[in-house]
Amino acid sequence: MRLAKYLAQAGIASRRQAEDLIRAGRIKLNSQVATDLASQVDPQNDRVEFDGVVVSPEQPVYILLNKPPGFLSTVADSRGRPTVVQLVPNIKQRVFPVGRLDQDTAGLLLLSNDGAFTNLMIHPRYKIDKKYEAVIRGEISSAEIGMLRDGICLDDGRTAPAKVRLIRSGTKESVIELVIHEGRKRQVKRMLAAVGHPVIKLTRTGLAFLDLAGVKVGQYRYLRQEEVDKLIDLARHGRA
Ligand code: URA
Repeated sequence: MRLAKYLAQAGIASRRQAEDLIRAGRIKLNSQVATDLASQVDPQNDRVEFDGVVVSPEQPVYILLNKPPGFLSTVADSRGRPTVVQLVPNIKQRVFPVGRLDQDTAGLLLLSNDGAFTNLMIHPRYKIDKKYEAVIRGEISSAEIGMLRDGICLDDGRTAPAKVRLIRSGTKESVIELVIHEGRKRQVKRMLAAVGHPVIKLTRTGLAFLDLAGVKVGQYRYLRQEEVDKLIDLARHGRA
């Protein structure tokens, strides 16, 4: 198989990130730096190294974490801030976040060492729904809700249509549920700020058919194999 695929399956990075590592000369194949993206690996006989450490294929692992606010959706932080990976200390495999939640966003975050799975969950092409509950400033009008549903012009383009449900309305603050599949940077906060209702608190409450039932803030559970299969099927064929 191709070197980048092997690295992704071993849980080093997504396939695209693995290609960057290859280009950067950080991968050795049988003791030679491999910069050719077309390099082929025979997992039985070849020896692959990443920054001098031998890479071995791992058992894939899929975790559903209820992320507390205050943790970065990354593996390690150069400034020593807490990361989501520190919330799953007993996992042997090197897992990385499946997409990102902002540091101050809470809720459902998947972690995995399966790069192909990660790509299926986060690439907008596969249209995996992400559900958010946002506490927002002020009282939102039905016209503004309509704008969120139809798509909002942000500086990186118009957002795809969203499902929107008003949960609670108040003059000081309101609570709204949004379902989107794009996952652009700070998308929900930017959409709500664009209609004049800055987000006070944001929680991701769902991803496809998954929710946070039974998983308290700061805790995690393994996905069941049938859940993983269903998610992959949803991404590939638009159905579970
Ligand atoms: N949208 C945001 O604005 N922030 C997140 O963390 C996730 C979605």
